[in-house]
Amino acid sequence: MNAVEIIARKRDGVELTTEEIYSFVAGITTGEIPDYQASAWLMAVYFKGLSHRETLDLTLAMRDSGETIDLSDLPGLPAVDKHSTGGVGDKTTLVVVPLLAAAGVPVLKMSGRGLGYSGGTVDKLESIPGFRTDLSVAEAKGVLADAGAALIGQSAELAPADKALYALRDVTATVECIPLIVASIMSKKLAAGGRSIVLDVKCGSGAFMKTPESARALARELVRVGNGAGVPTYAVISSMEAPLGFMIGNALEVREAIETLLPDDELPGSECYFRRDPLFTDLCLTLAAHGLVANGVASSESKAKDLCFQILQSGAGARKLEKIIAAQGGPLTLSATLDALPVASETFDVLSDVAGFVTGINAETIGRVATEMGAGRFRKSDTIDPAAGIELLVKPGKSVQIGDGIARLHLKAGGGPGAAAFAARVGAAFTIAPVAQHVAMPRSLIIATIS
Ligand code: URA
Repeated sequence: MNAVEIIARKRDGVELTTEEIYSFVAGITTGEIPDYQASAWLMAVYFKGLSHRETLDLTLAMRDSGETIDLSDLPGLPAVDKHSTGGVGDKTTLVVVPLLAAAGVPVLKMSGRGLGYSGGTVDKLESIPGFRTDLSVAEAKGVLADAGAALIGQSAELAPADKALYALRDVTATVECIPLIVASIMSKKLAAGGRSIVLDVKCGSGAFMKTPESARALARELVRVGNGAGVPTYAVISSMEAPLGFMIGNALEVREAIETLLPDDELPGSECYFRRDPLFTDLCLTLAAHGLVANGVASSESKAKDLCFQILQSGAGARKLEKIIAAQGGPLTLSATLDALPVASETFDVLSDVAGFVTGINAETIGRVATEMGAGRFRKSDTIDPAAGIELLVKPGKSVQIGDGIARLHLKAGGGPGAAAFAARVGAAFTIAPVAQHVAMPRSLIIATIS
């Protein structure tokens, strides 16, 4: 392989052969191709793009750059995998995976850590005292056999080419490129062994994809590549204009996920947390429903959603999450988990300075402030405070009076001095229209489904 020739061909807009793509990816994985040549190739791809065939080849070459997991030996139904392109307050995995497991669909879910304003599921799970995300694949399969699902960190053995390429994309301004995003996401998903994949492609201010057009383009290509690789793939495009649910921050989000799954008569009495977001619940039910349809458990999305709703109401999803947490080293019951979750030492309420009707909450601003408060990291080496975060006291569609609390900051110890400045930015993230201009609010976060 001549790396210079492959870079030049892509620079000139020529479609690369399967062999060229495989040998370039192999060179990146072994280190035979130096970073400067890989970076030049990434920039050429950024400007010239990849055809559908090239994107599929790149994905498969990256999938094959490391280990692949075989889940075909699991008892029962074929395993489903789920992925979100990431957003603010996105704790869907903690609800969707137990719902699928309770319907008899196994899930071995590998997740990442948060970087920037988008949270990571592994950080959320690690806010549960004792919970281990660093299980080997063999250990995770044991948890799966026992609890029906396992929630672990991304294995370094899977798609090592992605690790090398992503590190270069991050520092060469080539992250925002659909073929590269698709190959990055799908190589890891395809290596993780699920027999079908449900994708939640976020769209809006708190997402990677800011417009419905770009989210659709990404979703279509993700689905095309998944199906092209022989793994039935579904994408739900969902709104990330406002944060998802009420809680943003690691322990806060675990609490909200548990309280979404718990049946009413098991909810803790605390008024502070006695809120559920119907739009968040609906999104979780929709994602889980696609997993059931993919597996033939239900013949239509609406039947599957009814089944997921019954599972939710019966508490079977909650019991599955309880089993998963216990099997991975956390407390034995959900009530013990709620008691053990870290709680911020200081809180500060953000009050509305106008009366009106909440029409929007800018997810990106809320995500950035939460990160600065310690709930996320700007650099991989940053440590996070699991208790820190922002609790929304109202969501779009609610009316407020002057002086009403609209958000509560959960601050790390000594975080009080900066609270007023954080509060001002959180307050400014709310759009509050005069009640006279009452606008109809969307009843669902789902923008489109692509299968
Ligand atoms: N998530 C990934 O895993 N890769 C990307 O390129 C973007 C989001």
